[in-house]
Amino acid sequence: MIYLDNAATTWPKPPSVVNAMAKSLVRFGANPGRGGHTMAMETAKEVYLCRETLAEFFGADDPAQVIFTANCTMSLNMVIKGLLLGGGHAVVSDMEHNAVIRPLHALAEYGVTYTTAHVCENDPQKTVENFRRAICPQTKLLLCTHASNVFGNVLPIRELGALAHRYGIPFAVDAAQSGGHLPIHMRRDNIDFLCLPGHKGLYGPMGTGVLISKSEIPLQTILQGGTGTASLEKTQPTALPERLESGTLNVPGIVALRAGVLWVKERGRATIERYETMLLHHFYSLAANTPHVRLYGDLPKHGGSLLSFNLEGKSAEETAFLLSQEGIAVRAGLHCAPSAHAHNKTLPNGTVRMSLSAFNTRHDVDTLHKMLIKILRKP
Ligand code: ALA
Repeated sequence: MIYLDNAATTWPKPPSVVNAMAKSLVRFGANPGRGGHTMAMETAKEVYLCRETLAEFFGADDPAQVIFTANCTMSLNMVIKGLLLGGGHAVVSDMEHNAVIRPLHALAEYGVTYTTAHVCENDPQKTVENFRRAICPQTKLLLCTHASNVFGNVLPIRELGALAHRYGIPFAVDAAQSGGHLPIHMRRDNIDFLCLPGHKGLYGPMGTGVLISKSEIPLQTILQGGTGTASLEKTQPTALPERLESGTLNVPGIVALRAGVLWVKERGRATIERYETMLLHHFYSLAANTPHVRLYGDLPKHGGSLLSFNLEGKSAEETAFLLSQEGIAVRAGLHCAPSAHAHNKTLPNGTVRMSLSAFNTRHDVDTLHKMLIKILRKP
């Protein structure tokens, strides 16, 4: 199989990730923070090492600010609800995933409102100005995707973070498609809350997610429970990471996630980014010169690891099905992001999305292109 669905989850995983997960099940089988015995302590150390690795990788102030979650959606819910449960207003882009739109919509019954700011592909300053105009006195959160999961557009996060801070508003980034692919540095990019999947560009297993949360801005908790600390208290501890981490952690996933981040570091994030961009541009130039292929998005102005297209006369689902029959895995439809499709006028059919990882080759991309031609020739 040629796997070009890495934006949904990267596959394959590096051997070091597979080995770390297996080793964790054997060597780190006790519950971290829930016992003083040797294996519990050793397991807690492994978990801490992962916090440290992630904090360093993303330019966070302190490993304690690294919170382990089940996925990026959970991290986003924790930020959105943690800041807005008491009411208020948020500004988001018009390219957000349902992981942002649905929690905001669900908060309407608590009086929460939100405004979507239009992303201008070729004009980051205009995008920032659109966000600025959407800010009002009730605004308690500015949140945006870093890179669209459908079209790959990259948003000017550093400038948006600076804008939010000028107005004294916390800034959160959905890095579902950029973590491990694009440069992200919390301090330099003015990010207060960074939401990440562990299983995409960081090459960890599914079921791992991360929230890196500035401790200066306390989030209300949407989960309360055992933390292994202050057990006599009925209230949730205030200190991070315990405040936002109730219940037993996904230790095998966390240990494997660290191996994934170390693998990215060793290869070089920028090297991976250059490689994926080269493959993407190669596919773009082949497809752009192929009649009846419609490409979407802003490429090749930005890098990134994914792009969307359609074949004339075929629905996105049909194209993906035919590609699957040829042994090629892509994702078709709305990609849980109808807002992004509304932005690019690709509703209701959606698009076919090909998405890359460091494991893809020029041959993969050439084969995709050949198969598209074959499908187009079919009566
Ligand atoms: N949000 C992921 C995707 O875009 C699952 O496919």
